[in-house]
Amino acid sequence: MGGITVQKVAGALGAEISGVDLSDALDDATIAAIRGAFTEHQVIFFRDQSLTPAQQLAFGRRFGPLNIHPYVSGMDDHPEVMEIIKEPSDRINFGGGWHSDMSFLETPAIGSILYAVEAPDFGGDTLFASQAAAYDALSPGLKATLETLNAVHSAGREYSSQGHSAQERKTMKVVEAEGAVGEFIHPIVKVHPETGRKALYVNPAFTMRIEGWSKRESKALLDFLFEHSRYEAFTCRFAWTAGSVAFWDNRSVWHFALNDYPGQRRHMRRVTVDAWPAASAAGADLQLREPAE
Ligand code: SIN
Repeated sequence: MGGITVQKVAGALGAEISGVDLSDALDDATIAAIRGAFTEHQVIFFRDQSLTPAQQLAFGRRFGPLNIHPYVSGMDDHPEVMEIIKEPSDRINFGGGWHSDMSFLETPAIGSILYAVEAPDFGGDTLFASQAAAYDALSPGLKATLETLNAVHSAGREYSSQGHSAQERKTMKVVEAEGAVGEFIHPIVKVHPETGRKALYVNPAFTMRIEGWSKRESKALLDFLFEHSRYEAFTCRFAWTAGSVAFWDNRSVWHFALNDYPGQRRHMRRVTVDAWPAASAAGADLQLREPAE
């Protein structure tokens, strides 16, 4: 792992790593150092990389099997690589709201690796928020209550015909879900399988309600948590240039792609890591639910 340096970028989360070329066939010690930084800092950043889709796939596969997004088509020859493109004429961006990737699946993705092919001249930053820091800052009483609760997650709001329409995001290969979308239950407090640190695991995009609670009751608590969880002290912000890479831990991090670069192009490629090989039992607390009426 010779030569790697890790520099924190904010108090709650985030570190920039230098001294590594991600297009190389990296040795196990270097991958272990990157994985260690990812686990400790929750989101890590790299600058000045040059990655083909095949090299980004190869890097991602060092951390686990890669996900094929159920509602966004990947590249024709690399279905695990999702292109996130906003053309100058597009109005709506992809990821433009606080969320954690794939919480709407039975076994959510653990990490996302985003590479900037083309960054706008201004704007287009991504915000990240530590849901571990958000959990830590709650009172002992609310922590204890939340630990008894589960939440229902679904892709319906984002990917059904009631969500952002494919027309509004025409550059993205978004496929609207046909009919009802499945719902999955996850604990509101997630224990990180590697660090043991607890984090809130609800997000405004994909969390629909609290299991066993009415929509009105759920809204009251979820609105509080969504407001609390984006407090600036829990966040960091990454300004992209072409060749930058961000790798975040969806188990404890929210992110938000800012839509503040009208008339400019932004082109990213994402691969999404499904599970660490050693942690395949981590989804044992999840269960499949029938779609809501
Ligand atoms: C995403 O939500 O995965 C996209 C984030 C970004 O484009 O900054």
